[in-house]
Amino acid sequence: MSPWRTFGLCLLLSACVPIDEDTASLLDACAKEPATPLKFGDAGFKLPAVVEPNLILESLDQVDQSRLDADVNLISTQYANRYYNSTIGRDAAFWLKNIWDNLTSQQAYAAATTFTHSNFLQPSVIATLTGASKPDEIIIIGGHFDSICHGINCLNSGVMQAPGANDNASGIAVMNEVLRIWLSELNQPERTIQFMAYAGEEAGLLGSKDIATSYRLQNHNVVAVLQLDMTSGGQIDNEIYFVNDHVDQQLTNYVTGLVDHYQDVLDITYDYVTCHYACSDHASWTQQNYASVFPIDHHITDDPFNEIHTRQDTVSNLSSTTKMSKFAKLGLIFTQELSQAKLDDDTECQP
Ligand code: BES
Ligand code: ZN
Repeated sequence: MSPWRTFGLCLLLSACVPIDEDTASLLDACAKEPATPLKFGDAGFKLPAVVEPNLILESLDQVDQSRLDADVNLISTQYANRYYNSTIGRDAAFWLKNIWDNLTSQQAYAAATTFTHSNFLQPSVIATLTGASKPDEIIIIGGHFDSICHGINCLNSGVMQAPGANDNASGIAVMNEVLRIWLSELNQPERTIQFMAYAGEEAGLLGSKDIATSYRLQNHNVVAVLQLDMTSGGQIDNEIYFVNDHVDQQLTNYVTGLVDHYQDVLDITYDYVTCHYACSDHASWTQQNYASVFPIDHHITDDPFNEIHTRQDTVSNLSSTTKMSKFAKLGLIFTQELSQAKLDDDTECQP
């Protein structure tokens, strides 16, 4: 049982009377749990210094709002049903694979693949930029590609209408923009960068769980994971919120530090918000003890996005589309900085 579950059970049990013998021994074990619940993951991410790689500022200038808008529009209208266990949702994922094939064909070190899931039809899609000097160290930028509609008014001629413009065509559009700029403006990264469009998130983080489990089984060295899920909503154009549960606290500190450092170009104010449950794919990586960070476009409780999981999650209901450019810049900074950062375990031999 994971420490999270155990701790939750401990809280539950401590509220219950009477206590039988088995429960008493479990409560005894509970006494060894930390006094403060492990709200954050701790995957051991150590804060590196800011590098300011060559070309970083030039690359941020290349972010193109019109391409981001066009992508969200295209995905949410032409692929308005990306349901994870349908042929239409599978075909939509292969459309994205084709886009990433074309983009990655520009560079010999880049390629796109699908990750097939055994229990449902839609694959996840992965684009890999293999690192030049540290190919085994992986930086991930990901978000879910699937969409869903719950409740009434979802069907049109028997087909689910799930445009998912904010949730999460907007995150995919941001990834597309970051990938385009890497391939057209930047040199081969030092560490490997993977772009992941997860399948089946809306059905229980299914795609990302499969991938994170497989990476842990192969003991892949994942340095950090950035989750992009909902990037074009919220009432204040320059505001983002860092989710502060089921993420790595140190990595979150590192990324807020990057926002501070690049504030002149980013123009982002930020705050924190708690999901209170494993609300997106970042949690799949945390569960496998990899460091993840999750910035989101709105305050979940003070400013909820009411169109979520309805057929009204359309482009016309997006309140802050320009925020996508800021997320794209943050994605470019995250990947470029971590590609070159001096990490703690980069031990160098002294003469
Ligand atoms: N984008 C949402 C998560 C979200 C919603 C974050 C609102 C913040 C505010 C995500 O796509 C989602 O719907 N997640 C599922 C997770 C569940 C299936 C494990 C959810 O919240 O129902
Ligand atoms: Zn959702």
